[in-house]
Amino acid sequence: MSSSGSETVRVNLAERSYDIQIGTGTLQQLGPLVAGGGKLRHVVIITDEHVEQPHALAVAESLSEAGAQVDALVVPAGEKSKSIDVAADLWERMLVIETDRRSVVVAVGGGVVGDLAGYVAASYARGLAFYQVPTTLLAQVDSSVGGKVGVNLPGAKNMVGAFWQPRGVLIDTGVLKTLPVREYRSGLAEVVKYGVILDAEFFAYLEQHVDEINRRDDSVLRHLIARSCRLKADVVEIDEREETGHRAVLNYGHTFCHALEAVTEYSEFLHGEAVAIGMLCASRLAERLGRIDSATTERQCKLLTALGLPVEMPEVDPAALLAAMRHDKKIASGKLRFVLPSRLGHVELVGEVKEEDVRGAMTGENG
Ligand SMILES: NC(=O)c1ccc[n+]([C@@H]2O[C@H](COP(=O)([O-])OP(=O)(O)OC[C@H]3O[C@@H](n4cnc5c(N)ncnc54)[C@H](O)[C@@H]3O)[C@@H](O)[C@H]2O)c1
Ligand SMILES: [Zn+2]
Repeated sequence: MSSSGSETVRVNLAERSYDIQIGTGTLQQLGPLVAGGGKLRHVVIITDEHVEQPHALAVAESLSEAGAQVDALVVPAGEKSKSIDVAADLWERMLVIETDRRSVVVAVGGGVVGDLAGYVAASYARGLAFYQVPTTLLAQVDSSVGGKVGVNLPGAKNMVGAFWQPRGVLIDTGVLKTLPVREYRSGLAEVVKYGVILDAEFFAYLEQHVDEINRRDDSVLRHLIARSCRLKADVVEIDEREETGHRAVLNYGHTFCHALEAVTEYSEFLHGEAVAIGMLCASRLAERLGRIDSATTERQCKLLTALGLPVEMPEVDPAALLAAMRHDKKIASGKLRFVLPSRLGHVELVGEVKEEDVRGAMTGENG
C-alpha cells in the first residue's frame, strides 16, 4: 500500500481547530503525528476486540517508536460498550496505569470506540488530549468529525456526553479491507446523505463510481472520505455545539431511521441501513408535499440499491413508528419536523407536517 494521494481536511474551530489526514497505509504515521516534533510520554490506546489486531497493534508500534510509553485498553466490540459501566471501568484502569493530565488518549476503532474513548478523554482528570483513528467507514465519514462524544443510558442513546474535539484524526483507507461488507455499506448511507443534503456534484460522482466504491478502491475512497469530512466539517464549523439548528441538516432521513431502529429494537438493521430506508421515506414525504419530483427520489433509490443498501420499509406498524417519532428528542416540541430536500444538494427544515403525510411516506399509500 502506498501513502501517495493523501488528503488533509482542516476543521476550523478557533483554538480547537485540527486536521483530518486521509491516506492509505498510513497507520504508522500516528506516532510522529501525536509527537508533533516534541517528546511523547504516556499514550492510552482505547480499542475493541475486533480492531486490536492488527490495527491497534500497528498504531501502538508507531507510538512506541516515537518514544511513547503505550498502554492499550480493550473493550468488548459492540454498542453495549457505550455505557457508563464501561467508561467507569476505563477510568479505573487508567488510574492503575498512572494516567495523568499529560497522558494522551487515542481511539482506534469504529464509532462506538470513538464516542466512548472521547467521553473518557473528556472526563478523566477534567480532560485529556485526544486523537482518533477511525476504522469503520461510518466513523471515518461521520462520527470522528464534529466532537460529539458520549455514552448511552438504558433506553436513551447518547444521553450522557460532551463536545470534545480531537487534536487530530488519522484516517487510513487500508483498514477498511478487514471491515465486514454490511458494516462497509452501512457507512456508505451517510456518504450518500451528504450528497443529497449539500452537494449534488458529489452525488453524481458517487453515481459514476459505484463499481470502484463497491470494490473499495483506495483512491476513490480517499476522495469520498475527504469530501464527506469536508461537508460535515462545514456544517460543524457553523454550529459546533448544535445551538443554531444548522446542524440539523445532518439529520436527513434520521427521524424515520431512529423510529425504525427503536421499533425493531436496534437488532434488525445497522444504523446506515435504517438511514437508507429513512432517506427514501423523507424523500417521498418531500414529494408528497410538492417539494421535489419523483426523479429525485428515484436517483437516491437507484444509488442506494447499487451500493447494496435496503430501501424498502419493512412490515412494521406505522402507528408504532409514529409513536417512536414523537419520543425522538429531535421533535421534543411535539410537532413533527423533518429535514427535506428541495432539490438534490439542498435541504430545508419543514415544520408542522401532517401525520397522514408521514404515514403515507412510510407505507407508500396515498393520504
Ligand atoms: N459522535 C458522532 O457524531 C456520531 C455520529 C454517528 C454515529 N455515532 C455513533 O457511532 C456508533 C456506531 O459506529 P460504527 O458503525 O462504527 O459501529 P462500531 O464501532 O460498533 O463498529 C462496527 C463493528 O465493526 C468492527 N470493526 C471496526 N473497525 C473494523 C475494521 N477495520 N475491521 C473489522 N472490523 C472492524 C467493530 O468491532 C464492530 O464490531 C454508534 O454508537 C453511534 O451512536 C456517533
Ligand atoms: Zn447517522
